[in-house]
This record gives sequence, C-alpha cells and structure tokens, in this order.
Amino acid sequence: MFLQPNIKRRDMINCALCDNAPCDEACPYKLNPGEKLREIWLGGEHHAVSFLPETDACAACDALCEKACVRPGLVPIKGLITRLRNEVKPVITKEQLADESILQTDICGIPLENPFLLSSSVVGSNYDMCARAFEAGWAGVSFKTICNFDIHEASPRYSAITGGSSSIIGFKNIEQLSDHSVVENMKIFKELKRDYPNKFLMASIMGRDDEEWESLARLCEENGADAIELNFSCPNMMEGGLGSDIGQNPVFVERFTRAACRGVTIPVLAKLTPNVASMNEAAEAAKRGGAKGISAINTVKSIMRINLDTYVSSPAVGNDSAVGGYSGNAIKPIALRYITELGKNPNISGLHISGMGGIETWQDATEFMLLGAGSVQVTTAVMQYGYRIIKDLKAGLNYYLRVIGDNSVKDIVGLALEHVSNTTDSLERDTVVYPKFLRNKCIGCGRCRISCADGGHQAITMKERKPILDPKRCIGCHLCLLVCPAGAIESSGKRVKK
Ligand SMILES: Cc1cc2nc3c(=O)[nH]c(=O)nc-3n(C[C@H](O)[C@H](O)[C@H](O)COP(=O)(O)O)c2cc1C
Repeated sequence: MFLQPNIKRRDMINCALCDNAPCDEACPYKLNPGEKLREIWLGGEHHAVSFLPETDACAACDALCEKACVRPGLVPIKGLITRLRNEVKPVITKEQLADESILQTDICGIPLENPFLLSSSVVGSNYDMCARAFEAGWAGVSFKTICNFDIHEASPRYSAITGGSSSIIGFKNIEQLSDHSVVENMKIFKELKRDYPNKFLMASIMGRDDEEWESLARLCEENGADAIELNFSCPNMMEGGLGSDIGQNPVFVERFTRAACRGVTIPVLAKLTPNVASMNEAAEAAKRGGAKGISAINTVKSIMRINLDTYVSSPAVGNDSAVGGYSGNAIKPIALRYITELGKNPNISGLHISGMGGIETWQDATEFMLLGAGSVQVTTAVMQYGYRIIKDLKAGLNYYLRVIGDNSVKDIVGLALEHVSNTTDSLERDTVVYPKFLRNKCIGCGRCRISCADGGHQAITMKERKPILDPKRCIGCHLCLLVCPAGAIESSGKRVKK
C-alpha cells in the first residue's frame, strides 16, 4: 500500500489549511503539523511521513497545536500526526526527496526542472506573481493570454460549487484575457527572462486575424518567450469568431496556427477547447499548421446555479449572467478523456501534450502523464490553495517515480493508454466482482440497501442493521460501495463467473 493513502481528506475535513498555520508556530518540536496536514489533504502522506523525526515527540505533548488552531477542538491535529507516524511507513528518505533531478523533463526539447506549469490565467498574470511562483518551485508559466484589444472585466466574475471545508469542487469564471497592454506584458516577459532564465516562459496569445496571430507570436519570441500557446479555446471571448469558436473549427485552427508559426522559430502549442465532440480534428489541423504541441483542456462551457428568487445565474453581474468556463477537480474526468483521445491518435504522435483540467494533487497530475501528457498545467487549485502546492506536487511525483523504480517523467508518459478503450464494447462481460462488507466498519445506516433497492438490483437486505448480500441478485455494479459513508464496503477484488 505504498501508493494508496491511509488517511483521507474526510479525516481532517475541518482543517482550514491556514496561511502561516498557528499550529506550526505552536508546535514545540517543530514538526510543522500544519504543513503535514496540507500534505495529507493533497494526497502526500507518504512523503509527509519522511520528514517526521524518529522519536514520537507528540506522545508527551499537551496538543499545543490544537489549542492554537483557528478552529479549536475541530481538528484532531495531534491524532492525525500520530496516525501519520503509526500507520504510514516511510519508504523513501528526505535526502531522496531533496534530490529533484528525477523530475527533469522537457517541452519540445526545452528543458523543464519539473513537469509542473501554471496554466494561462490570473495565476500567472504579472511579474510579481510569476516570480513568486518560480521561487516556490514551479518550472514555468503559460502567461495570461495576451491580446491587442481592450479588456474590461465584469464583477463578480467567479462562482463555485464547494465541498467540505469550502474546498472547490467545480469553479466557474467569466474572465476574459490579460488587461495589461501588449507593451506592458512584453516588459514583464523581458524582466522574467532576465531574472529567471531557466524557467519556462510560454506566451499565450489570441489574435483577430492572420496578421495579429503572426505579429503577436513574433513579439513574444523577441521578448524572451520560450514557446507560444495559441488560445483557440477561451469560452468567454466568443464575439467576432474569437476564442473557443476557433477551436471548434479545424479550418481556422490550421490557418491561425500557420500564421503564428510564420512569425517564430520557437515551438508553438495550440490550446484546444473541450466544447466539441472530438478534439482530434482540431489537433490534426494544428499539426498541419505547424504546431509542435497541444495544450488541453480549456474550460467547459457552463451555467451555474440559478437564483430561484431573481432567476439570475451565478456569478450575477447585476441582473444578468452568461455562459462561462467551468474548471477545477470536477472537470478532471472530462480532461482525461480528451488527453486519452489525443494520446491514442497516431496522426498526432510526436506532438507534445500539455495536460490540464482539475489537477490538484500529484496523483491527478500523474494520471494525466500516464495518459500521454508530457507536462501539466494548473490554475484552479492554485487559486484556492496557492503556489505552495508545488511542494506537494513535486514531492508526490518524486516519491511515485522512485517507488515504481527510479523512473523518469518521460518513462511514465502514456503507460495507461493501452488500458483504456474509446468505447465500452470491447470489455469482458462474463464475470463479476462482488462487493465485500466490512462489518467492523459498518455503522448500520442502510444507505447501501436503499441505493441497491432503488438504483440497483435489490440484492441487499438488512439484519440487525448490517447488510447481507444476495449473490444471486447482485450483478457487481459497485453502487453500494460508492454510497457507503463509512468506507465499510470494498471490492472483493476477485472476478468470478456469474
Ligand atoms: C479565472 C480563470 C482565468 C483563465 N484565463 C485563461 C486565459 O486567459 N487563457 C487561457 O488559455 N486559459 C485561461 N483559463 C483556463 C485555464 O488555463 C485552464 O485551462 C482551465 O482552468 C483548466 O485547468 P484547472 O482546472 O487547473 O483550472 C482560465 C481559467 C480560469 C479559472
């Protein structure tokens, strides 16, 4: 169990993941419990435990961390650190974690310290932000999309569906492009490249005609960009055939890619929209136009939450709202589907795939790589947790690569592709996998019975508030396992003839 977490987010659901966590300051043994809890939250218990000292300092402590907590009594900090020590076995050392050379890779031959970039958005939109992100450990940035037209943003411009501890599950934005002039952005590029020559600086651009795509790309290269990303996919720039309208039209994709490529010698990546039935046509068109890579996905068109009193959806700009882009962890399965489609397409093999859409943890990022992404980009998770998550992303991937055999990032790219099919027709259908009930964990709520009765195959009955399975009726769909609030139902793991 070196890859599955023992401690779950729900075990620490009230943790506020504080800035300068008071528990860190209060800990007399300098265990940095706040940092450890953030690592657990972001799936990193295995690397978190590597930094705990051998002696159990918590045993004699009066839980000063919990007394200092901004939510006193609600976060069992001492218990979580003790569980980390007792339940998680360190398999790599902190010295191995400190050696990040294993994370090195490249985009179209341009070296990257690690595969993690900020994606084009507010999180990389001025000098100070990019500089702080680079200092924190991000390998590079796709800078906020640059254009030649005036941008005046609406307020408010964000809305979200949230889960425990206000964590963002899905995020909607109606934001447009950079509101700095091209001249201002070029000055930022020059300064970033001067001060951070080894960081990867990708210029995201959007033009209105061939001439603009070509000249913007050229200007960005002249001012230090390492690569160009063509924004064919912003759902908030629809007028005059801009943004995602282009990504839906392979003829325009090819034409504007060719125009941008005319202006530069550096690699050009086309950033494509998921608001299509298939991304293949646009990706192949980008390749014909000269692109060396594909970035995907941009946000998914969405409407969020209609106010039942005012009839206005969210974010409400006065008495009105609009279709906008949906991002965050909720869109990860959609993004992975497109990455798979691109990864499996022989007509674009050799193109670099820069994957994004819902990446929060190193596990999320690794899934993108296993399906063919050579680098990954992040926005929404940075918006909610800050640049600091790069520490967790790097440590987690470092841990994973070492546990599976000191592999490099490139070694794992695409490894999962052969295990996923574009249709369900080819799957084996003669055997089933039954659920297994863990009676000691079962709290007797009966949710499994209700779901099986009303949404399944009526295979569960309750006796003394514990579920009993009828294997003659069970078809092994695993709905019960998914709805159990106590983690008391597991897969039996065995395929048996039905
Ligand atoms: C507030 C916000 C602003 C964005 N602005 C841009 C942009 O200017 N150009 C662009 O190509 N993508 C833009 N995006 C899309 C992101 O780069 C990214 O493709 C998308 O959010 C999915 O990744 P995520 O789930 O990690 O956020 C924006 C996303 C958000 C949330």
